[in-house]
Amino acid sequence: MNVDPNAATQGFPSPESRPHPARYLVPALVAAAVAVALGVYGKVHHPTGTAFNLAGFSSTGAVKSWLATTAVFFAVIQLVSALMMYGKLPGPGWAPVLHRWSGRVAFLVAVPVAVHCLYAFGYQTYETRVLWHSLLGCFFFGAFSAKMLLLRSERLPGWLLPVVGGLVFAVLTVIWLTSAFWFFRTFGVTT
Ligand code: HEM
Repeated sequence: MNVDPNAATQGFPSPESRPHPARYLVPALVAAAVAVALGVYGKVHHPTGTAFNLAGFSSTGAVKSWLATTAVFFAVIQLVSALMMYGKLPGPGWAPVLHRWSGRVAFLVAVPVAVHCLYAFGYQTYETRVLWHSLLGCFFFGAFSAKMLLLRSERLPGWLLPVVGGLVFAVLTVIWLTSAFWFFRTFGVTT
């Protein structure tokens, strides 16, 4: 009889190829630790209300709103380049380079904004909008850390990275809607 040695495992990952649970658990735990640490800091640190400004801008809020908008702009490039890498959109061979660099820029631009939020305002819940903004602001950095760790992990199911990447993108969009978008609607699209 002709026996296919892989027949028993067809459609199912064999125990050797199945990723060790730690490959999921470590990123998940790091994500939770980062998000909770930021939330706790935002809660216990006394908000300073410190303002800063850049030449040409009218207020700290305007600077932050434009920086946040820049971060979302580069995040959209992230999404489009990811779709190219997964063959869902036609794209150039340098789509992975575009993906990496747009991600780096989006993150570098978002960090000073979040640092100001945490230091000057802290974790606030006085309105539903502000509650979601604070919560997702912390969650974002947790989910982002998990994505960075998953990138280095091999033998993970193919759907995991797009799902976590999509989550990071969606969360950044809601953070923007509950802050910069609100700011522009309230004070006008000013610099
Ligand atoms: C990717 C991360 C984040 C981005 C892009 C972001 C962006 C912004 C922007 C553009 C504003 C409006 C400008 C201003 O009033 O200063 C804002 C306000 C605020 N942020 Fe964030 N933020 C982030 C994370 C956080 C985190 C982690 C917290 C706290 C845990 C937080 C708490 C606040 C609060 C309390 C306000 C004032 C809300 C209001 O009354 O309008 N943010 N944020």
